[in-house]
Amino acid sequence: MPFHHSGEIKDSSKSLLKQQATVNEARCEKEENLVYSTGQKIFFMPRIIAVVNQKGGVGKTTTSINLGAYLAGLSQRVLLVDLDPQANATSGLGIDHKQLAKGIYEVLATDADVTEAIVPSSIPGLDVLPATLSLAGANIELVPLDRREFLLEDQLQKLADYDYIIIDSPPSLGLLTVNGLVAAREVLIPVQSEYYSLEGLGQLMETIELVKSNLQPDLKILGIVLTMYDPRFRLSSAVLEELYKYFPQEQIFKSVIPRNVRLAEAPSYGQTIVHYDPKSPGAKAYKKLAHEIHGTKKPS
Ligand SMILES: Nc1ncnc2c1ncn2[C@@H]1O[C@H](COP(=O)(O)OP(=O)(O)OP(=O)(O)O)[C@@H](O)[C@H]1O
Ligand SMILES: [Mg+2]
Repeated sequence: MPFHHSGEIKDSSKSLLKQQATVNEARCEKEENLVYSTGQKIFFMPRIIAVVNQKGGVGKTTTSINLGAYLAGLSQRVLLVDLDPQANATSGLGIDHKQLAKGIYEVLATDADVTEAIVPSSIPGLDVLPATLSLAGANIELVPLDRREFLLEDQLQKLADYDYIIIDSPPSLGLLTVNGLVAAREVLIPVQSEYYSLEGLGQLMETIELVKSNLQPDLKILGIVLTMYDPRFRLSSAVLEELYKYFPQEQIFKSVIPRNVRLAEAPSYGQTIVHYDPKSPGAKAYKKLAHEIHGTKKPS
């Protein structure tokens, strides 16, 4: 069982790390992500965050893309995994999924090399493991495979060269979402500020508990982020009040994402809000969220 790096091994681990051609010196300072295994091998454990809510259109993709972009802006190496057959995260970053030979489906269902399917985005430090059209049948096609719930986990474990891996999930609690939860160590739940938004959260919590008790004991809730908040509507603040009733205060992010048309426009230009309109209220909110998440301690 790997354990976290302690102060005493800092110097020796640094010299070992220098021998690893793929690991650069700057990242040796990131103690949080250092894991020291009994086999004396030093490697980085990225923070793996699944963005999940089985309800459609609540801001999962908008959150994944813009959080990824702002974390990259904090000099973090970020991989965005598009686990949704709609491929919104892929196209929202200006990548044409129809042109790609390989994507997440080929990585999960065949023996395609995960590193060969990863493509860079236009944002330095932000890479994408894209969705391709073939992902549409995955929820059924992956069922007969061995370790069907661990297919993504097995692939992501091969990637040590990222600080963050963010997984954008489809609007269902099917096998693809379960793969995302098993591969992740933290779950970020976007909740839309509207009347029915709390419905279904109980079922999501049950699924997370089931994954924890049967498949991934290390999974934790990173937090809930309220999206599309509009202070002009009393309903928006009512949803926030309800959230505070049902969830511990520390599980609700202080950064609240406002309803902002600039966030909705950006993907049609294949851009994140960082480039499209960095001064907009939506941009400021996602920047704050990225700082808030980066400031939280990686779960041990
Ligand atoms: N804060 C916001 N303000 C205004 N529009 C937003 C905001 N967040 C998301 N949207 C828009 O709302 C729609 C749904 O958002 P998004 O695609 O991020 O949700 P999703 O949960 O990923 O959806 P799906 O469940 O279909 O994957 C999109 O058109 C998006 O551009
Ligand atoms: Mg989406």
